[in-house]
Amino acid sequence: MAPRRAGAALLVLALLLVVASAGLSGYFGTKSRYEEVNPHLVCDPLSLGPAAVGSRLPAACAPLQLRALLRHGTRYPTAGQIRRLGELHARLLRRPAAAAAACPTAADLAAWQMWYEESLDGRLAPQGRRDMEHLARRLAARFPALFAARRRLVLASSSKHRCLQSGAAFRRGLGPSLSLGRDEVEVEVNDSLMRFFDHCAKFVALVEENDAAMCQVNAFKEGPEMRMVLEKVASALCLPVEELNADLVQVAFLTCSYELAIKNVTSPWCSLFSEEDAKVLEYLNDLKQYWKRGYGYDINSRSSCILFQDIFQHLDKAVEESKR
Ligand SMILES: *[C@@H]1O[C@H](CO)[C@@H](O)[C@H](O)[C@H]1NC(C)=O
Ligand SMILES: *[C@@H]1O[C@H](CO)[C@@H](O)[C@H](O)[C@H]1NC(C)=O
Repeated sequence: MAPRRAGAALLVLALLLVVASAGLSGYFGTKSRYEEVNPHLVCDPLSLGPAAVGSRLPAACAPLQLRALLRHGTRYPTAGQIRRLGELHARLLRRPAAAAAACPTAADLAAWQMWYEESLDGRLAPQGRRDMEHLARRLAARFPALFAARRRLVLASSSKHRCLQSGAAFRRGLGPSLSLGRDEVEVEVNDSLMRFFDHCAKFVALVEENDAAMCQVNAFKEGPEMRMVLEKVASALCLPVEELNADLVQVAFLTCSYELAIKNVTSPWCSLFSEEDAKVLEYLNDLKQYWKRGYGYDINSRSSCILFQDIFQHLDKAVEESKR
C-alpha cells in the first residue's frame, strides 16, 4: 500500500502547484491534460522528471516484467457531447445581431468556429498519438533492460477505436527492435478483459442501466450550487435560464478542457466560468465517476476482478519462472 499512498501525495502536490498558476485547468478531472500532473513534460515530453527519492530500483533488484495498465491518449469529445455543444452554439447563433453589443460573451461564442463533427465521436486526437508515443519512450527509458531488443511484448486493448489507436501509437513509440508475442497481430483485442464493466451482468443491471443508481448526480444537477452556475452562465449569454440545463453548461466547460488538451488553446468557452464555477462542475463530474466507476457501489470495483487476476497471475508466473 505504501507506494500507492506516496503516489497520491505526489499527485496532490502537483495539482496544487498547477492550480496556482493556470486558472481552470486544475478542475478538469478526467479531462485534464497529462501534463497537468507532470508539468515538466510541457518543456520536454520525454523528460523523466525530477529524480524523485525512491523512484529508482535498489541495486539488488532486477526488473523481471512490466505490466502497465494505461488509459487512452487525448481524445475528441463523444458524439453526444458534440451534439449538445452544437445545440448550444446554434442557440447563440440564432440571437438577433442587435443583441451582440449588450452581450459580448455571447457574440464571441457565436463567432467561435464549431469545428467538431459527430463522426469524431471519442476518437484519438493527434495529441493522443503523441501522448502514447512519448509515454512508451519514457517507460522504455526508465526500464531499458525490459525494453531491450528481442524482449517479448504483448499489447492488449479494448475494441474501442481510441484504445486500438493508442495501442498502435504506443507500439510505434517503442521502435522496431522489440519482438511481438504473436505474429502479425500488433494489438490483441480483449473486451472481457479491458472492458470488464460491460461484461459484468450485475454491474450493467445495477449501475449502467439503472437510472436510480445516479440519483445523487441528478440531485446535484438540480441543486443550489448548479443553479447558481446556470444563472451566471445564462446572464453572461443573455439567455433565459430555462433554456439552459446542467448538461449544456457542463458541455461548455468540457469544451474549455478539450480545446486546451487537443489544440493547446484557451478557448472562449472558458471565459464563461470562474474558478468557483469550475469547482462546482469538477464536483459534478467527480460525483458521476464516484457512483459509476468508483467507490459508490461495491460492484464497480468487484467487476474488475478478471483484469486484476490477469495482472497478478502474470506477475506471479514471471517470478516463478525466474526461480527455475
Ligand atoms: C481475454 O482475456 C481473458 C483473461 O486473461 C482470457 O481468459 C481470454 O481467453 C481472453 N480472450 C481472448 C479472446 O483472447
Ligand atoms: C502550448 O501553448 C503554450 C502557450 O501558448 C506554448 O508555450 C507551448 O509551447 C505550446 N505547446 C505545444 C506542445 O505546442
